[in-house]
Amino acid sequence: MRTPFIAGNWKMYFTAAETAAFVAQIRDQLNQIEGVDVAFCAPFINIPTLAEAVAGTKIGVGAQNMYFEESGAYTGEIAPGMLVPFCQYVILGHSERRAYFGETDEGVNRKIKAALQHGLTPIVCVGESLEQNEAGETVDFVSGQVRAAFAGIAAEQAVQCVIAYEPIWAIGTGKTASAEQAGEIIGTAVRATLADVYSQETAETIRIQYGGSVKPANIAELMAQPDIDGALVGGASLKPDFVDLVRNAV
Ligand code: PGA
Repeated sequence: MRTPFIAGNWKMYFTAAETAAFVAQIRDQLNQIEGVDVAFCAPFINIPTLAEAVAGTKIGVGAQNMYFEESGAYTGEIAPGMLVPFCQYVILGHSERRAYFGETDEGVNRKIKAALQHGLTPIVCVGESLEQNEAGETVDFVSGQVRAAFAGIAAEQAVQCVIAYEPIWAIGTGKTASAEQAGEIIGTAVRATLADVYSQETAETIRIQYGGSVKPANIAELMAQPDIDGALVGGASLKPDFVDLVRNAV
């Protein structure tokens, strides 16, 4: 049984003061919703504020990126061990990082390994561009991203991960893949690839989220798809009715 998991990706929004105020506003309501895991992924500098604001609740804390080295001369980077005192989760390979900051499949794979070594749960992002989608390349491309992400990672470790399938053309655009489309791609390109790399049993254990313009109004139909176990939510995680989104997910 895969527990639904809704993660907010705050991207480069909210100051520390806004973080504290937002969490204070929704914390108790979110904490009362049963049968779903919830987390927010904040910019690095706001992670301690977020962790303090959710202390004593079931709300999890995540980062949006990290580097794979333990320490060293890597100006501007954050090591896995620096996240550990505050975070349970770390988003890795988000399409914005791949597109704007040169992240590669190989780097994402190294980051996943480093996160797992530190007991962090990676939220591994995959997803195709509009051009790839229109060219009918979605399944091959996404399946390839999944294989590359999990190269050299044992099944016992893979089951610790969460995967987020986010079609790039649906992120922040208001365009959502239809629930059926999203469910089908997650089934055929993500879960089937995991079954091929590992086993059907392993694939059935791993939680797979959909991401891209998820809102309170469309979460229920997405969650009704058998292969969709939750959502990675950008814009809608910055608004108080995120509580409704989480409620509608269960
Ligand atoms: P969105 O972002 O919900 O604003 O489309 C999703 C994401 O990029 O994780």
